[in-house]
Amino acid sequence: MRPDIQLDSDGGLHHFLTLEGLTATQLSSILDTAESFYPLAGQSVRKVPLLRGKTIVNLFFENSTRTRTTFEVAAKKLSADVINFNLATSATSKGESLLDTLKTLEAMQADMFVVRHQQSGAAHFIARHVAPHVSVINAGDGRHAHPTQAMLDMLTIRHHKGAQFERLKIAIIGDILHSRVARSLIHGLNILGVGQLRVVAPDTLLPNDIETLGVHPFNRVEQGIKDVDVIIMLRLQKERMQHAMLSNEHEYFRLYGLTEKRLTLAKPDVIVMHPGPINRGVELDSVVADGPHSVILDQVSHGIATRMAIMAMTLGYKPDRVVG
Ligand code: NCD
Repeated sequence: MRPDIQLDSDGGLHHFLTLEGLTATQLSSILDTAESFYPLAGQSVRKVPLLRGKTIVNLFFENSTRTRTTFEVAAKKLSADVINFNLATSATSKGESLLDTLKTLEAMQADMFVVRHQQSGAAHFIARHVAPHVSVINAGDGRHAHPTQAMLDMLTIRHHKGAQFERLKIAIIGDILHSRVARSLIHGLNILGVGQLRVVAPDTLLPNDIETLGVHPFNRVEQGIKDVDVIIMLRLQKERMQHAMLSNEHEYFRLYGLTEKRLTLAKPDVIVMHPGPINRGVELDSVVADGPHSVILDQVSHGIATRMAIMAMTLGYKPDRVVG
C-alpha cells in the first residue's frame, strides 16, 4: 500500500490512512493541533466554524461504538454536517458494489469519508477511487491500521509523560497478531523516537516478522513490564482468531492479565492504557482498569481532540492559525 497517496502536492495531509511514511514533524503537528482543541473537546456547547458547510460521512462496515461516536462528536464540534451509514445494514448488503455506494454518497456532496472495514486495505482502495476533493480517513481496516487510535494514544502519552519520547520505555501487551492498533502504534512510536518499545504476548499471538518492526518481543509479562513508563493493553480479538490460539481466557489472565501485583514491577508512576472495549478479568483486572494508574477514559476524551485535528487538517486547515 503506497503511503504517499495520502499527501497532496504540497506535502500536506489529504487523506489519513496509515502512519507509515509520515515524519515526526507531521505527527507532532497533529498532536499540537489536537492539544489546541483541548478546551473545546471538553465542552458540550462551544464549537469552531472550521468545517462549516462540509459534509462528513461515517462509513462503518464493522460495528463500533466509541470510534464512530468520537468521530461524530469531533465533526460536530468543527461545525460540519455528519451522516452515519452503517453499511452492515444498507445497500451493500443488497448486493450493491462498494464503488456504486461511494459514487452515490459522493453525489450527495460528501467532503470526507471516515471508513471502517473488516478488510485490510479498504480505506486505501476507497481513497484511490474518490473524487479529488474528497478526503478519506481510515478508522480501522482489518488487521492493518488504525492510525487515529495510535495518534490519540500518543497524545495521551505525551499529555502524561511529556514530549520526550526517547526517555520512555513502553510495553504493548496482548493480541499483537490481530491488532491494527498495535501495528499503527509501533509505526507511530518509532517515528517519534521512543526509547524502547516492547511487545508482550505468547508466540501464537505475535506476528512472525515481529523483530523487523523495531520492537523487543517478550513472552513473559513480568519481564516485559519491568521498569516501563507506559503499559498499553490490547483486547483479545476473538472474532479474528481462526483456530484455538489460546487454551482459554482464564489461563490467559493467569499468564498475561494485568494485576495490581504485576503493576508494581513497572515504574511507580506508570500509566495503563487500553483502546477499548475492555474484557475485564481477561486482559486486566477491574481494580487496575479503574485504579489510579489507569488513563483509559482520558484516551476517549483525547480521541475527540485528535479526530478534530485530523479532520480539520485533511480538509485544509493550517494549524498555525489561531483557534478561536
Ligand atoms: C480497537 C479496534 O477496533 O481496532 N478499538 C477501538 O477502536 N476502540 C481495538 C479493539 O477492537 O480491540
